[in-house]
Amino acid sequence: MTAPLRIAIAGLGTVGGGVAEVLLERGQDLAERAGRPVKLVGISARDRNKSRKSDLSSIAWFDDCRALATIDADVIVELIGGEDGPAYELVKAALGARKHVVTANKALLAHHGSELAALAERNGVALKFEAAAAGGIPIVKALRESLLAYGIDAVRGILNGTCNYILTKMEATGQSFGDVLAEAQKLGFAEADPTLDIGGGDTAHKLALLSSLAFGAAPDLSLITVEGIEHITPEDIGYAREFGYRVKLLGIARRTADGIDQRVQPAMVKAGTPLADVEGPFNAVVAHAGAAGPFFLEGRGAGEAPTASAVIADIMDLARGDVGPVFGRPAGTLKPLRAAPPERRKSAYYLRFQVLDVPGVLAEIAGHLAQSEISIQSMVQRARSPGEAVSIVMITHESPQGAVTRALNAIAASDKVTGRPCMIPMEAG
Ligand code: HSE
Repeated sequence: MTAPLRIAIAGLGTVGGGVAEVLLERGQDLAERAGRPVKLVGISARDRNKSRKSDLSSIAWFDDCRALATIDADVIVELIGGEDGPAYELVKAALGARKHVVTANKALLAHHGSELAALAERNGVALKFEAAAAGGIPIVKALRESLLAYGIDAVRGILNGTCNYILTKMEATGQSFGDVLAEAQKLGFAEADPTLDIGGGDTAHKLALLSSLAFGAAPDLSLITVEGIEHITPEDIGYAREFGYRVKLLGIARRTADGIDQRVQPAMVKAGTPLADVEGPFNAVVAHAGAAGPFFLEGRGAGEAPTASAVIADIMDLARGDVGPVFGRPAGTLKPLRAAPPERRKSAYYLRFQVLDVPGVLAEIAGHLAQSEISIQSMVQRARSPGEAVSIVMITHESPQGAVTRALNAIAASDKVTGRPCMIPMEAG
């Protein structure tokens, strides 16, 4: 057998512990598959005395993760997290020291991907990140290597398990967003600070990476419009079901005549389609690979084993000598992405208005929609309470987002309309 591939891990949380365990417990099988031993040689974490599943006493320990960049290791596995700070410093130092890096850090790559890719390539080393998008689902490798023949038209997916769990639970129980979130936090299914998950930021980080791989562009978060799920109500979810849809937080990157349309947004996904059927904390991605696609991949997007599985996949690639370009083509050839103007995106929309049940309110809403040339496909007003607030729900025909937003702004200014109108695009599954 050839020389071992020497691995050092920075960060021994859930995922780091899982990776260490696989390297220690399944080393023989990995070595046979890779054709060389894969050996854990160094570790850095916050608390040396914490009790852990694996016996790590024989592995060299470093209090400062940045020291890993200087030791005799071939691959640094960065599992610290965070877009800046120690993770960024370690990755830069490791690449600069000609060590391969494997990371699960989507925030780091979404913010510094181009710079780090260029650094890796200048030093002739790899920066791999299968675990950074959709956890255990091998979508990074699929977009980087497997779906090249016909190009990628679109990547669409459920990329945040916390949001999908919350939306699934809201649908099953009729509970409010706030109640389900509080319960999920109590059970440890949602972070104590869930902002990045529920606000769509985590999905945007992942989408920026997938979009970069799909369209050969530098990752650029600033080109993604981001909306979270905080404003979704059980009422919206109930109407969705009635119309034959389910509400899902989607990350979408799609080639259009106007450029690449990239957005994170709750969408009404047609019931019975693969994306609509993704339940609970699962993630899923649809890759539209020209004449060869679409392809649908579903799996666990977070947690110890799925994320460790993706990290090990990258390590195995490196053990076999695969040091391809970080985003699938040389960093110097990654072009800025031409972004489609959001106002020109066309979609059918679900609209919900909270209005006073008084004569003329419907005519006023319809008037503003007509003025913006928005055609209504169906409409529901179920409750009747003269003088009180009721909901009016409409589904529009396909319309440009700019026109719908304009009409909604005008409608929101009416004294018969209480609260901000809700607008959710309809998506094929
Ligand atoms: N917090 C993420 C999720 C996993 O809920 O899917 C890590 O990005």
